[in-house]
Amino acid sequence: MKTVSICFVCLGNICRSPTAEGVMRQLVDEAKLKERILIDSAGTGDWHIGQPPDRRARQAAGQRGYKLDELRGRQIELADFERFDLLIAMDDKNVAALRAVCPPAQRDKIRLLLEFVPERDDRWNGAREVVDPYFGGESGFEQVLDQCEAACRGLIAALRPQLLA
Ligand code: 4NP
Repeated sequence: MKTVSICFVCLGNICRSPTAEGVMRQLVDEAKLKERILIDSAGTGDWHIGQPPDRRARQAAGQRGYKLDELRGRQIELADFERFDLLIAMDDKNVAALRAVCPPAQRDKIRLLLEFVPERDDRWNGAREVVDPYFGGESGFEQVLDQCEAACRGLIAALRPQLLA
């Protein structure tokens, strides 16, 4: 059985990447691909290791039926580049931080989340990055959720044919 393993990556692993993980888990479950698509998240920074996601991220996600409470922050490690098929970063700084430590042979595994938003569903005018909501207001967390939902739908659609081939 073909599988694909995905690690979502942001800076702190308490706002954007746990949100992407929670959304992806739910959508993959609904798509009946739970055994095929393996999901995790990590941060490039080390400030929030062992911590649950930010209260605002948990609350905003919870209102849409995604549960982030069990997740705990962790930092990306060298073995992750081997373990995962895709490392999907939230912004260009995360990509740069990953590339700085990634073995050259694994570099093609590093992608940006918004690459997976289907063109017809692009409400953000071709934005490349999921903006860090940490220092902003509640609306930033809603945008993160909207972008994660759109991109994760696109990602599942992109993966489905290769998983079921
Ligand atoms: P995240 O947001 O990268 O989406 O988890 C942040 C969380 C914490 C910090 C920065 C961004 N921080 O500076 O502690």
